[in-house]
Amino acid sequence: MPTAWSQTSPSRVIHADNLEVLPNLPDAAFTLIYLDPPFNTGRSQKRQTTTSVRAAAGGASAAGTITGFKGQRYERIKGDLLGYDDAFEDYWAFLEPRLIEAWRLLADDGTLYLHLDYREAHYAKVLLDALFGRDCFLNELIWAYDYGAKSKSRWPTKHDTILVYVKNPQAYYFDSTTVDREPYMAPGLVTPEKVAKGKLPTDVWWHTIVSPTGKEKTGYPTQKPVGILRRIIQASSREGDWVLDFFAGSGTTGAVAAALGRRFVLVDQNPEALTVMRARFALVPDVQIFPHGLGGPVEAADAAVDPNHLDFPPTEGLGRLVS
Ligand SMILES: C[S@@+](CC[C@H](N)C(=O)[O-])C[C@H]1O[C@@H](n2cnc3c(N)ncnc32)[C@H](O)[C@@H]1O
Repeated sequence: MPTAWSQTSPSRVIHADNLEVLPNLPDAAFTLIYLDPPFNTGRSQKRQTTTSVRAAAGGASAAGTITGFKGQRYERIKGDLLGYDDAFEDYWAFLEPRLIEAWRLLADDGTLYLHLDYREAHYAKVLLDALFGRDCFLNELIWAYDYGAKSKSRWPTKHDTILVYVKNPQAYYFDSTTVDREPYMAPGLVTPEKVAKGKLPTDVWWHTIVSPTGKEKTGYPTQKPVGILRRIIQASSREGDWVLDFFAGSGTTGAVAAALGRRFVLVDQNPEALTVMRARFALVPDVQIFPHGLGGPVEAADAAVDPNHLDFPPTEGLGRLVS
């Protein structure tokens, strides 16, 4: 069975360091890339030299070039900004080559969603403006939730930030008419027809976290809610498009993509993520699992399920998704 990926391949789950997989994927193949990297907790990340990746990205064509590589502007901003914070410098050294690959892999009409927490978001925004080009910045989404312990010594921090960048500001795909609508905050102020239809979400999304006792739970600690991924995938991709998530975790992006008729490539280096994803995709047709990286053998998701390794039944979550 061929392991090289093309747009005619089945959807895939790959167990590997993403930086080993990404260079094997072809330019401009994905309409949507959603990334939820591990937050920078001060632990030192695996450093990568960026020189060769940078040279490759500078040569990419599609919808223009990355502004940062036209000249010294990005390097200057990076030098100024990262000098303030050693921990973020390490984190950016980890993220930068992966974001450059993400840019290369985005289709001309494609969109990147980068999910960060409040400690990273502002550094990352400045660097991404310089790297992708400020005109490619589309939105800063705030995902607000209200769960867990609350600090009494400052405002409790209960939001994540999702930065949205497009490959080509003149050509990107976006259709908010297909997005799940939400209840009006003051339904008494609008017509009953509007109340029945619901309102279009803005850039602030109130949504519960994945409940530790709820049906959606897979047991993976950093699992993101289906409702958040549904909005992103509905607005920024069409049926049949390819979606990429190379910090896939429990596979929420792929589960939602499949339920909405999109195809997907997911990558994660954690064996526990693979265990969860094997089970999560057991009932999804045409999904290949690569348990040993892209070069290794291929398994069908349903052949690989081991319910004894899970603390949830395999169909939970996905059942809610498709209902
Ligand atoms: C915050 S979690 C993603 C959670 C996911 N959005 C979900 O809904 O379950 C980040 C993931 O990135 C993975 N990861 C970190 N570094 C990686 C790397 N170099 N290559 C592949 N995966 C990586 C971790 O194993 C972890 O599962």
